[in-house]
Amino acid sequence: MYDQQQHQDFHAAIEACDDRILNPQGLPDNPGRRQIIKGGLTLGMLALLAPGLSACQRQANAKTNKLLGFQSVEAQTSHSFDSVIVPPGYRAEAFFSWGDPVLAQAPQWRADASEDWQAQLLQAGDNHDGMHFFPFADEPDNHGLLVINHEYINPTLHPNGPSEYLRDDGSRQRPLQEVLKEQAAHGISIIELRRDADGRWQRVFGDFNRRISSLTPMRISGPLAGDLRLCTASDPTGLEVIGTLNNCAMGITPWGTYLACEENFHNYFVNRNRTDHAQRAEHQRYGIAAGSSSRYYAWESVDPRFDATPIPQQPHQGHVNEPNRFGWVVEIDPFDPHSTPRKLTAMGRLGRECAVCSLSEDGRMAFYSGDDARGEYVWKFVPDGRHDPHNPAASRDLLDSGTLYAARFDANGRGQWLALHHGDGPLIAANGFPDQQAVLLNARGAADLLGATPMDRPEWVAVNPLNRDVYVSLTNNHLRGSEFALDAANPRPNNLHGQILRWSEDGADPTALNFDWELFLLAGDAPGAVDAGGQPVAEELVGTIEGDCFSSPDGLAFDADGRLWIQTDADDEAPHTYNIGCNQLLCADPVSREVKRFLVGPWGAEITGITWSPDYRTLWVNVQHPGISYPASDGQSRPRSTTVMITREDGGVIGT
Ligand code: FEO
Ligand code: CA
Ligand code: CA
Repeated sequence: MYDQQQHQDFHAAIEACDDRILNPQGLPDNPGRRQIIKGGLTLGMLALLAPGLSACQRQANAKTNKLLGFQSVEAQTSHSFDSVIVPPGYRAEAFFSWGDPVLAQAPQWRADASEDWQAQLLQAGDNHDGMHFFPFADEPDNHGLLVINHEYINPTLHPNGPSEYLRDDGSRQRPLQEVLKEQAAHGISIIELRRDADGRWQRVFGDFNRRISSLTPMRISGPLAGDLRLCTASDPTGLEVIGTLNNCAMGITPWGTYLACEENFHNYFVNRNRTDHAQRAEHQRYGIAAGSSSRYYAWESVDPRFDATPIPQQPHQGHVNEPNRFGWVVEIDPFDPHSTPRKLTAMGRLGRECAVCSLSEDGRMAFYSGDDARGEYVWKFVPDGRHDPHNPAASRDLLDSGTLYAARFDANGRGQWLALHHGDGPLIAANGFPDQQAVLLNARGAADLLGATPMDRPEWVAVNPLNRDVYVSLTNNHLRGSEFALDAANPRPNNLHGQILRWSEDGADPTALNFDWELFLLAGDAPGAVDAGGQPVAEELVGTIEGDCFSSPDGLAFDADGRLWIQTDADDEAPHTYNIGCNQLLCADPVSREVKRFLVGPWGAEITGITWSPDYRTLWVNVQHPGISYPASDGQSRPRSTTVMITREDGGVIGT
C-alpha cells in the first residue's frame, strides 16, 4: 500500500524549497506545420470590446447569469477520497497515466514500477502538468495532438521509492540507473488522438508521437546563444543543452508551437563552494543549493552536469554555468517530430511557471508569465515583431528578440510595466549588469533593482478572449506580513489561501506600458465558517469568493465563451483546508464573480493542466501526484499521475 505519510513528507519538502529561494532559425517547413491553423484558434478569436463593465452593469449581469450552467459538486474532505467527481450529466475517465505507451514500441507499464529507464523513455513521464490540444486542420474536432508536461517525479517511480546512501562527506549518493529513469520521466509527451466511429477519443501511435525528456538535446536561441556564460565543459559552444527540467505550466504561440516552461530548476543543482555561491548572483538569486548535495534528487552524484561547483583549472570552470542553461521557455513544434526544441533566452531566466500569449488584431502580442516563488514577480515579454496570420512561418523567430518587463502594482489600482533594458537606470555594470545578456540571465535581480512588486507566488496567467483582461493566480505565501511587507496586491498576512488578481492593459493593448488592476477574489473560507474545533475560522482565512470556496489557486484558463476555469494546489492535509478538502477545478464568471465547483480530485493530488477540443465538448485535466490509490488509465491501483478526460453524457459543450 502506498505510504500516505511518505507522500505528504515528499511534497512538503518540495514546497519548502520555495522558502530558500528567498534567502538570499528557422526550422524547415513540413506538411504537418501547414495543418495547424486551428492550434491558434482561441488566440485568433480574440476581439476588442469596449473597456471594462461598470459595477452597475456587473450587478445586472449577475442576476441573469447563465454562464455557469452546471450543478456544483461538493467539497471532499476525507483523506480516503479516491475518485474524481464531476457534476451530474458529466463523465470523467482516466485517459493517459504515467507509464502508458507514447511510442508504439514501449513495453507495457508494470504495476510494480520495475521498468528501466530505456522503457521509461518510451512511456508517459510522471507528474502530468500543463498541456495543450493542437488540432489538425482537416478534422479539428476529431483529430489532434495532446502535448503534456511532466514536471517532476514521485517516489512511486521506483518499486520501493528512491534509494541513496550518505558518503563520508555527508553528500548523497544515488544509483545511476535510478537517476537515468528519473531523467527519462521528466519532460514532455506528445500523443496523437483520434475520435473513433463511436465518437470516443483513442490514443493512437502516429508519426507525431514523441517523448522529450531531461536527456533530449535542445538548442539555445536568442541573445545568450553562444554566450560564454552559457558555456560548460561539456558544451564549450554554449549552443546546445541536454534536456529540460521541471516543466510546469506552458503556453502556445499564434504560429502553433508549444512553450514548455522550466520552473523549479534550481532544485536539481548544487554549488559546493559556499564562498563562490554567495558571490554568484545567477546561483544565489535563483536558489541553487549551497552545500553538499542538491535539494531534490542528488543527480550530481552520478551526472557531473548537475554539480555546479566551479573548477578553476577547467575550461568554463566545469559545470558552474550549467544552471544558467535552465529557467527558460522551451519552444517545441509538435507537428515536426524531428525538430530540436529551442530554449528562448530573450524571454529571460525565471522560475518560469507559464508563458501565455495575448494577441491583438494587428499582430502585436505579449507573453505573460508568473515566477512561482514567494516574493517573485509577474512578467511579460513583448516581441519586437508582429505576427502575420497569413504567413505564420515568418513568425518563428519572433521570440528571439523583444522587451522583458516586470510588473509594479501600485496602491491606487494602476500598474506599470518596468522594462529590463541594460543601461537604463540601475541596470549598469556597477550593479552587476554589464550587458543585456546579464540582465536576462539574472532577470530576478534586475527586477529587484527596478522596484517590481514582490508577489504571493505567481502561478498561471490567463487572458479573457472577450476583452483581453489578464488574470494571475497568486497561490499563497505564509511569509506575507513577516518576511514580505503587506501591499494592496498582496494584502493578507500569513496568506495561506491565495488570491486571483486581474488587470486591463491600457487600450486593451498587450504591449501597453500601464494598466488598471484589481483583486478578482481572495480565496479561503466563507464568512461564518468554523474550524475542526467548532470555532470561527481566523479572519485572515476568510476569503471573498462568491460561491464555492477553494484554496491556493494555481492553474487558470479561459474557454471561448469567457468562463474562467480555476485549478487548485492546496495542501489538503493542513488544518486551514478543513472545509475545503481535496484539490479541485472550479469555474468563475468574470463579470458576476460567481464561482462554482466543477470537479474534485483524489486526496493528495493537485489538479492542473487544462485543455479542450476545439468544439469545447471534451475537456482534459491532469491529476498530479495523487496520494491515494486512484484508478489510472488501465484500472490498476498504484497511484499514478493521470490525464482525465471529461465529456457530457449528452455530448454538449462543457460548462454550459
Ligand atoms: Fe509547478 Fe508553480 O507550480
Ligand atoms: Ca503550478
Ligand atoms: Ca502550485
